[in-house]
Amino acid sequence: MMVHSIEQKKLFPLESEIPAEFQIKEPICQSEFLINGQLREWNGPTQEVFSPIYIQNTDGSLSKKYLGCYPLLSEETVLEVLNAAVKAYDNGKGLWPTMPVTERIQHMQEFVRRMKSEKEEIVKLLMWEIGKTYQDSVKEFDRTVDYICGTIDAVKELDRVSSRFLIEEGIIGQVRRSPMGVTLSMGPFNYPLNETFTTLIPALIMGNTVICKPPKLGTLLYRPLLAIFKDCFPAGVINFVYGRGSNIISPLMSSGKIDVLAFIGTSKIADTIKKQHPKPHRLRSVLGLDAKNPAIILPDADLDLAVKECLLGTLSYNGQRCTALKLLFVHQAVAEDFLTKLAAALNDLTIGMPWDPKVQITPLPEGDKTKYLSELVSDAVNLGAKLINENGGTAFESIFSPALLYPVSEKMRVYHEEQFGPIIPVVPFDDVATPIRYIEESNYGQQVSIFSKNPNEIASLVDPLVNQVSRVNINSQCQRGPDIFPFTGRKDSAEGTLSVSDALRVFSIRTLVAAKENENNKELLAEIIQERKSNFLSTDFIF
Ligand code: G3H
Repeated sequence: MMVHSIEQKKLFPLESEIPAEFQIKEPICQSEFLINGQLREWNGPTQEVFSPIYIQNTDGSLSKKYLGCYPLLSEETVLEVLNAAVKAYDNGKGLWPTMPVTERIQHMQEFVRRMKSEKEEIVKLLMWEIGKTYQDSVKEFDRTVDYICGTIDAVKELDRVSSRFLIEEGIIGQVRRSPMGVTLSMGPFNYPLNETFTTLIPALIMGNTVICKPPKLGTLLYRPLLAIFKDCFPAGVINFVYGRGSNIISPLMSSGKIDVLAFIGTSKIADTIKKQHPKPHRLRSVLGLDAKNPAIILPDADLDLAVKECLLGTLSYNGQRCTALKLLFVHQAVAEDFLTKLAAALNDLTIGMPWDPKVQITPLPEGDKTKYLSELVSDAVNLGAKLINENGGTAFESIFSPALLYPVSEKMRVYHEEQFGPIIPVVPFDDVATPIRYIEESNYGQQVSIFSKNPNEIASLVDPLVNQVSRVNINSQCQRGPDIFPFTGRKDSAEGTLSVSDALRVFSIRTLVAAKENENNKELLAEIIQERKSNFLSTDFIF
């Protein structure tokens, strides 16, 4: 079904129309949670989970597919989970934080080996819980496996460069990275597996103990992994909590026992969580937050390329990426051509169900999202913008047809708010100072895309922009990957830098053991090394 013909109810399938391999035959009622190396039964309240995908009933009505439920833990239980993580860390004396790196790597290798066997189930749940297309769900799973393997390689490399002594100014020293303590890891709904794992995995492998709270949307897909986590890591090293933030996150933070907060979500929630820690200077935060990445299309841009990249940038996973292009600045001289080409490309998109390989636009998982997006469109239209594409902005249940809005101005909400959905606001400009001013005045500072064939134009924009955002993309959309590249942001967009290797640094601290260079100390150190008496003081080389 094309975007220009939202035939309402027919968008959603009858149960019998769902391909057999993607059907959820029985609801998944998760009654267990992972605490201290045990899958403990929970008999308290639970959260029901409904898919953003509606099913046509035989009487013609629609209802959201019921997927199952998961525990809503009490404050008391969450504090028990905290104690398990604190005990497993044991002020750095625990089995895991003192374990040789080679052994921690073996645990992680076993985990990733077993995780691969759950691919089919996790991919299916990604589709049902958050409406991500099959292809993108597979990509998310595979990218996560690659991230874990890349992390293992990066840990080996980090250990190799630390496996020697330095002698400076009469002092012998060995410098390594040590864990920080108990990490709280929370990911977002749009990459519920991948982004959560980009903090959880490096935190674990560096010797921290972890409490993970899966995103509210995208929780059930963790269930197949719980037993694997239980089997592959010592008791208390990895634990899971579920429930509303105010009930479960506040007690964790206000205990003062969380050493690292790894959070990917909004800056507003990050600020609320951080403030709950009684000693903020003791808390290390690793945050991936909001963004409103602009594209700047200059008059000499290759318009076909710009349209292709802007389409991907604005609408991949319905625009629900922190790195999505959320405002397009197009030079007046090419605005008409650009809009014509983009509207034609939008017309060729297909709306439908995530398992259909022809589909790009799928149901939105956040409740009331289509209402919010409709409000943004109405506000822009009331203030003078036009809907350029046929049927743009049509909403039906959880589906929202992409809306190309032009001309957008700073009076409109969509100029400022992170829509996180399929709205494409286009702002015309005459002078490149206009988009630069937008970037300077913005609360966000993640990335920008610039489109031009002229090296002088590109160079003159790169130099000011690299001091405003953290990645300038030339003739391409904004994106996080490849995962070995640094991913961060300025202002309200991030705190700390993540990448396969940078993440190992943010979840650890440089620590050294030093001794004056005299005969007694040399003999003492030599004996420790030769007789392998310490895991820290060691010159073993990991192959
Ligand atoms: O939502 C933010 C993600 O980190 C974006 O990742 O640019 O690879 O889609 P991506």
